[in-house]
Amino acid sequence: MADKNIIAVLGATGAQGGGLVRAIMEDSEGGFTARALTRNPDSEKARELAALGAEVVAVDVDDPESLKKAFDGAYGAFCVTFFWEHFSPEKELQQAGWMAEAARAKGLKHVIWSTLEDTRSWVPLSDDRMPTLQGKYKVPHFDAKGEANVLFTEAGVPTTFLNTSFYWDNLIHFGMGPRADESGNLGFALPMGDKKLPGIAAEDIGRCAYGIFQSGDEYIGQTVGIAGEHLTGAEMADALGEALGEPVAYIPVPFDVYRGLDFPGADDLGNMFQFKHDFEDYFCGARSLATSRSLNPRLKTFDAWLAENVDRIPRQ
Ligand SMILES: NC(=O)c1ccc[n+]([C@@H]2O[C@H](COP(=O)([O-])OP(=O)(O)OC[C@H]3O[C@@H](n4cnc5c(N)ncnc54)[C@H](OP(=O)(O)O)[C@@H]3O)[C@@H](O)[C@H]2O)c1
Repeated sequence: MADKNIIAVLGATGAQGGGLVRAIMEDSEGGFTARALTRNPDSEKARELAALGAEVVAVDVDDPESLKKAFDGAYGAFCVTFFWEHFSPEKELQQAGWMAEAARAKGLKHVIWSTLEDTRSWVPLSDDRMPTLQGKYKVPHFDAKGEANVLFTEAGVPTTFLNTSFYWDNLIHFGMGPRADESGNLGFALPMGDKKLPGIAAEDIGRCAYGIFQSGDEYIGQTVGIAGEHLTGAEMADALGEALGEPVAYIPVPFDVYRGLDFPGADDLGNMFQFKHDFEDYFCGARSLATSRSLNPRLKTFDAWLAENVDRIPRQ
């Protein structure tokens, strides 16, 4: 293990980082080992990662000194922020800045920054097709991540900017699965009209990130977009119906209706779906399936993801 390059992985007990830790530790000949970063090294999830052979180290991304310690001696780092814990783009921006500074201070050779587009480059605040949120954002959980890209560049950190996609796992964990109407008929609601939504099995994000680390310098300074498939809501509903063994109707929810739903962040997500809808060509084009598969030959299609996960999608 001493001669292996250490990848320090933020969010290691979560979806993106967890996939990366598992990908690294599964590949015993790959030349890398994972340092799993967590606030709580004693948690069950952290212990599971330790059982795979990962080094587990405490970190709090709100504590810049703990980030520096966590990156010490590492070859690279996977950096991700956790919007849905606090709903604050400013906090994401600040944390990303601390990550970039820690990476610079520790001389990391390769950082992957899990980012998303700053949608304001496509939809300026003056564009009233969608409301401005939190005073200066269109899609808060996208915009600050994109705004933070430059922090890594300015710090001189060798960085790959990883544009991720909608996790199909949101159907399990985010309440986005099919719902039954009063007659018991299943419907799958998505505000995407007839446009394609790039989606991915969350586990595949870490596997693609691992492929980027394995590629050495090839992707440093580049933006890499990943997805498992680009599917319309109707195609997703059909696939869900096949997997569930009963018909699922696609319900193309209007953006304004979605924005008005009664859950935290509905307005942010409504704007996000409208951005993906209105800029379908760009958004899908920026997430090459071929590149994703070359980085991660095990990349799952939606059907393959459903085959493994359909029983975990809550019946509502
Ligand atoms: N859902 C989607 O479709 C989607 C798509 C693209 C991008 N994203 C983005 O993905 C990001 C979240 O990544 P994820 O889904 O991998 O996260 P996740 O599964 O929710 O896990 C996040 C992990 O981060 C750790 N964490 C939280 N706060 C921390 C802190 N202050 N210091 C250190 N660690 C902390 C937690 O670990 P411990 O409790 O062990 O510390 C937690 O297990 C969000 O910013 C979201 O915008 C989501």
